[in-house]
Amino acid sequence: MNSAVVRVTESARLYGETHVLWMELPEKFQNATPGQFVMTYVGEHDDPLLGRAFSFHRFRDGAAGREFAVLFDVVGRGTGWLSRRTPGDSVRFIGPLGKGYQPRSGVQRMLLVGGGIGCAPLVWLAETLVEQGREVTLVLGGRGEQQVYPARLLPPAVEVIVTTDDGSAGERGLVTEPFERLLPWCDQAFACGPNPMFEALHGVLRRSALNKPVQALVEAPMACGMGICYSCAVFPARGGVKLVCRDGPMFDLRDLY
Ligand code: FES
Repeated sequence: MNSAVVRVTESARLYGETHVLWMELPEKFQNATPGQFVMTYVGEHDDPLLGRAFSFHRFRDGAAGREFAVLFDVVGRGTGWLSRRTPGDSVRFIGPLGKGYQPRSGVQRMLLVGGGIGCAPLVWLAETLVEQGREVTLVLGGRGEQQVYPARLLPPAVEVIVTTDDGSAGERGLVTEPFERLLPWCDQAFACGPNPMFEALHGVLRRSALNKPVQALVEAPMACGMGICYSCAVFPARGGVKLVCRDGPMFDLRDLY
């Protein structure tokens, strides 16, 4: 378990209620891979007591070395506190935790699907895959334009398709539609978002005769982040119990439903 207190270098509201926090990257986090996460300890004097789980969102070279970012919606006391951090403040993290995405070697066409804040780990995955010379299409869905990650912040080589429930940006509808369209094109797919989105994507897979690999990064309530409390237990259709923090958060989508 790697615990680190890190210094904030930048804090900004990026779009809608979504905030990005950049911090100096501790040496202990340098081997993180896309899809892994950190437990973040928000607030003062252990209040709130429990951490919040956030995926690694992006990395960059900053003025004093490598930096990493987390992306989050401001939805409550903990994320509100985090959004008010300013450069020079400190935040405590534990990480890198969990099992991240595992892109296959030797395949080229990668389809990424993110619902709402589920875009957070996919941005780094997209950047990594583009650096490896692979073709990347990223489908971003949200209720409206204010919930969709800005395409201008992605590498130009990433093809972006936007869907919104209300039609205020991109295609009106759900991410399942471009997912179904592009499934024959891709060699491998990666998703992150709420459980109803995974169920809908799984429905597309079930109807399709295609046997494309799809990795899902599951969101779950996490109290400890390291396999102790069982707050993140999920129950795959095939039986048994899995812990999102320890066995995941990446699962083969077909193993979940
Ligand atoms: S968060 Fe405690 S066991 Fe997974």
